[in-house]
Amino acid sequence: MIVIRGATTINEDSPEEIRGAVKELLEHIERVNTVSRDEMVSIVFSSTSDIHSYYPAKAAREAGFEGASLFSSQEPEIDGGLKLCIRIMLFVEKNLTPKHVYLRGAKVLRKDISDKINVAIDGPAGSGKSTIAKLLARDYKILYLDTGAMYRACALKAIKTGSDLKNEFEIEELIRNLSLEVKYKDGSQITLLDGVDVSDQIRAPEISMAASTVSRYPFVRLKMAEKQREIASDMSCVLDGRDIGTFVLPFADFKFFLTASPDVRAERRKKELEAKGYQVDFETLKAEIIARDNQDMAREIAPLKQADDAIAIDTSDMTIEEALQTIKKKIQEKI
Ligand code: DC
Repeated sequence: MIVIRGATTINEDSPEEIRGAVKELLEHIERVNTVSRDEMVSIVFSSTSDIHSYYPAKAAREAGFEGASLFSSQEPEIDGGLKLCIRIMLFVEKNLTPKHVYLRGAKVLRKDISDKINVAIDGPAGSGKSTIAKLLARDYKILYLDTGAMYRACALKAIKTGSDLKNEFEIEELIRNLSLEVKYKDGSQITLLDGVDVSDQIRAPEISMAASTVSRYPFVRLKMAEKQREIASDMSCVLDGRDIGTFVLPFADFKFFLTASPDVRAERRKKELEAKGYQVDFETLKAEIIARDNQDMAREIAPLKQADDAIAIDTSDMTIEEALQTIKKKIQEKI
């Protein structure tokens, strides 16, 4: 006797969705494991507590899986766990190496046996992309890469060495020998410049515009994009930036472009900076954000731009949770 495991997700708690997802999951398991229905002894389903409109076991029966004994149970609510998820344990009277099957949004439960996924979240400063990207990565238990931190580290190096930000040649020479590393400590990204953790320093207000300035130079962009692609090619991750969907990962599985009005963005930035102990004037910050957007949109190489196949989301009137759920719903619909 062997046990085959699997899981899938639905978009909403409706009998039609449950029927469709259960049928798809069982047929997929049958196909990849080459098991027949009469070899199935028992099927145990468990679903998350947000699914109650129908029993997955009943859906299995309707889909023609009639020989096996069928059970359905409900899981307790788990903080940060997948929503609208149906899990399965299938007992089979056969001697084979089981191939477990994780479909749709449940792919993130078993990244080791599922396809790698990359999520690109682009947008201007203050659009909410880093907060949302971080939460999405946490919920999907995949890596979060803040690409802005890399340009910020380049800018910090230039400022520390007294380099002329406007001198492309000087910056290119500086960045050529840059020692920049991205590491993870307790699940958070840390940025190391010449071996020193500069994660806090790069958040100083004066670094923002400087990062935008040095990021215009092709040499800098190509070097950073190469590092970003290297990280993304190894593992599933959520990347936030300005050019992820258009330039760094044009074939990313999911692309989002977040926007918000300049007033909302400036207000969010102000709060963020004040929480870090910086005193900033709203109007100055707003003017700087607009100037930075213009500089990021106007550069020749990989400008700030929505990819043609990216989903645009205006977060001006959304809470973080609403924006996060909107993105998750779009991902589940597509998987
Ligand atoms: O996301 P951020 O505010 O930390 O980014 C700082 C600057 O870095 C931004 O104004 C432009 C640049 N940047 C970029 O050009 N491309 C990216 N993928 C990320 C950031």
